[in-house]
Amino acid sequence: MKWSMTGLAFYSLGSAALVASLTKIKRRLELSVAKHGSIAGHARLSRRVASFIPYYEYGEAEFFCSDDAPVEIAARRRDGFMRLSALYSTRFAITAKQTAEVADSISDLQFTNAYRVPFQYSRFVRHHLRGGWFLKSSAGVTVTDLDENTFYDLTGSYGVNLFGYDFYKKCLESGAKFVSELGPVLGAYHPIVIDNARRLRGISGLDEVSFHMSGTEAVMQAVRLARYHTGRSHLVRFCGSYHGWWGDVQPGVGNPVPAHETYTLKDMSEETLRVLRRRKNIACVLVNPLQALHPNMNAPGDSSLVDSGRAAHFNRESYTKWLKKLRTVCTEQRIVLIFDEVFVGFRLASGGAQEYFGVKADMVVYGKTLGGGLPVGVVCGSKELMKRFKDDRPVDICFARGTFNSHPYVMGAMHEFLRYLDTPEARALTRDQDALWNGRVERLNRRLAQENLPVRLANITSICTVCYVQPSRYNWMLQYYLRAEGLALSWVGSGRLIFSLNYTETDFEAVADRFVAAAKQMHADGWWWSKPGLTNKAIKRRILKEMIAHRLSALRDHRKVHRRVEG
Ligand SMILES: Cc1ncc(COP(=O)(O)O)c(C=O)c1O
Repeated sequence: MKWSMTGLAFYSLGSAALVASLTKIKRRLELSVAKHGSIAGHARLSRRVASFIPYYEYGEAEFFCSDDAPVEIAARRRDGFMRLSALYSTRFAITAKQTAEVADSISDLQFTNAYRVPFQYSRFVRHHLRGGWFLKSSAGVTVTDLDENTFYDLTGSYGVNLFGYDFYKKCLESGAKFVSELGPVLGAYHPIVIDNARRLRGISGLDEVSFHMSGTEAVMQAVRLARYHTGRSHLVRFCGSYHGWWGDVQPGVGNPVPAHETYTLKDMSEETLRVLRRRKNIACVLVNPLQALHPNMNAPGDSSLVDSGRAAHFNRESYTKWLKKLRTVCTEQRIVLIFDEVFVGFRLASGGAQEYFGVKADMVVYGKTLGGGLPVGVVCGSKELMKRFKDDRPVDICFARGTFNSHPYVMGAMHEFLRYLDTPEARALTRDQDALWNGRVERLNRRLAQENLPVRLANITSICTVCYVQPSRYNWMLQYYLRAEGLALSWVGSGRLIFSLNYTETDFEAVADRFVAAAKQMHADGWWWSKPGLTNKAIKRRILKEMIAHRLSALRDHRKVHRRVEG
């Protein structure tokens, strides 16, 4: 058979096109395989699913037996709940009243109030368990509300509180004294900035520093710079990890528009490394070391505690191995490796996660505790990555501003924080925290096991999460029993307990006593009764059925109204 030149050309073009599309399909498949199987691993799908979930709630009767508990158990739960309700209404009367007065005008308060427990139970709980959301003072490891109730603080102020509230009060006070002559002048720097930049360069081991007003903004800037310098479009974040609320790092539920230039990939996975090796459009990988406690899972909040599926376990060795592999691949592929240390800050070590895991990042983002009690975000990076303009193309710049960046008062408080961090005392306090906190958590877990309570804590140093070892739909009730015992939690409830490093053994034992007492009371009140053979899967299936039934009934109602209007 003879081939004409044109025929040959068509044949070669066709083969090239076929190879190109096969390669494209292969890359696509690799990307799919590198996504985590959970809904959190599929941003677009999770948004679609969220939009289908109908609102429904349990009436008073169902509230106590949504798991088919027998009448006597439901009655025990009701008694316990009403006792708690009476206690809340007297003990937190002023705090709750002030909260109720302002709730309609503060949208954040409405949101956090609504999302403390799974939505089916939320209204009933809100009505009966009014704890209030005001505090008037803090001291040592405690906070005090408007009714003069003093709680052990387990909120950690979203992670800001590393060294104890009294320390930050000092940072605020002496930092303000340092800069008060300059006052609120912006644009030019207070000279204290020189020392802050020097110390941050020392801690991060990187050349340059930029100051921002929040962790979210600092993450935005780090990613923008990575895109600018690599000329690539996509960022990689790991399934479940939080990096602030900027759209590109928060694809999926919570963000009304899709994040087209974000890949959400499996944490600690070879398949992810394969994608990083093959795709040429990846500018950076964001790592939030807190995920080491629960890789591939969302930040644990009690509003999603519909069963006992919450799991957490930190393995320093395997996470270190993973970070090292990630480092190697990022270096090979010239992908910018960004450590987002906003949450863990200097909790793991005084040199942060880089020191703790022994892995160097190309850029590090800090925030929260670094501000010495004031809002802040900082990016540290190599000279090449931090540069915001190009010498040979003067108009091709990478813009970043922020009116309040480097505010003198923030710089003053940060200075106090950084000075302390560099003292032998702070270094001793932040060194080898694992043994101390693992020991404390183990002791508490042993007590919980001895009492046959289906609750355990998991931790990464001083950050803990509560897990539940027996299937139940009511685990979220624990937060209300804990509060009744004088333990203050943030709005995510038992999902995150953050201890400051000024917790002594005696303080921790007091918290442990209260924790055990709360869990015992909850147990006695029947919330952990469960049908023999009940599984988390069965609970999920049941909830899915309820959702479908409510969705169908809403559709039927809608059709009826439509017919009536047309008729
Ligand atoms: C890892 C991480 N990155 C970024 C942020 C955002 O910081 P900010 O709340 O200061 O904007 C947070 C906040 O919790 C965080 O935990």
